[in-house]
Amino acid sequence: MSSVAVSRVAILGVGKVGTAIARAALHAGHEVTIAGSGDPEPVRFITEIMAPGVAVATAAEAVAGSELVVLSIPLPKLASLDPEMLRGRIVIDAMNHWQPTDGALPELFAGVTSTSEAVARHLEGARVVKALNHIGYHEMESDRREEGAADRRALAAASDDREAAEAVAGFVSSLGFDVQPVTPLAAGRALEPGSEIFAGSFGAVDVAERLREATLALEPASATAPTPV
Ligand SMILES: NC(=O)c1ccc[n+]([C@@H]2O[C@H](COP(=O)([O-])OP(=O)(O)OC[C@H]3O[C@@H](n4cnc5c(N)ncnc54)[C@H](OP(=O)(O)O)[C@@H]3O)[C@@H](O)[C@H]2O)c1
Repeated sequence: MSSVAVSRVAILGVGKVGTAIARAALHAGHEVTIAGSGDPEPVRFITEIMAPGVAVATAAEAVAGSELVVLSIPLPKLASLDPEMLRGRIVIDAMNHWQPTDGALPELFAGVTSTSEAVARHLEGARVVKALNHIGYHEMESDRREEGAADRRALAAASDDREAAEAVAGFVSSLGFDVQPVTPLAAGRALEPGSEIFAGSFGAVDVAERLREATLALEPASATAPTPV
């Protein structure tokens, strides 16, 4: 059990993913606030349609009133996020690098090998956990199951921060999914587009096995297997 109790969730990004996670979090009993990149007013109407019951605010207000922040914005927009706003915050990086629309983003990836390392570098001081990126927004509701269900889907969560990972695991479980935590944050590569985990839908044992295989294959010189946190 995490020492960070999550009941208030901020979601940055009012697109397909942000509104789907907002609905799922509301359904799970969380207090949810969503924000776009600017003035909340234009966001209210879409939120009433796509995620009724979810509060709308500026990004700064949403973050300030939350224990957990979900980033569901296009990766090229990362630079538009103020690192100070997210310093010290537990942040789920649900973003993917989708090359056909996002482009190569060479500056973002200079010196790093995973999207979440790039995110953590920009958001210095944030407690980043890579999660919720390898489930389609349309599956957030159709695939959720009660805890203990035999066909419960598992989602991976990569982080360097044990407490943040535990808080995220509790949140993701509340949405209706098993969680397979893994360290380090760079192991998030194993759940990015192009990976087996990204392409499929698996239970906990299979996600754990694929994380182990994928991270060992990505780091052949390292004897460090992904470790539960
Ligand atoms: N499609 C999927 O099933 C799926 C699944 C998992 C993860 N993802 C990833 O999730 C991310 C979002 O995807 P999407 O399909 O939901 O995108 P989308 O529909 O294009 O929505 C993007 C949203 O991000 C907002 N935004 C941009 N910059 C922002 C900022 N600085 N602060 C707050 N909000 C900001 C935009 O608001 P404005 O209009 O105000 O700019 C817009 O509401 C992407 O990285 C994607 O790869 C997608």
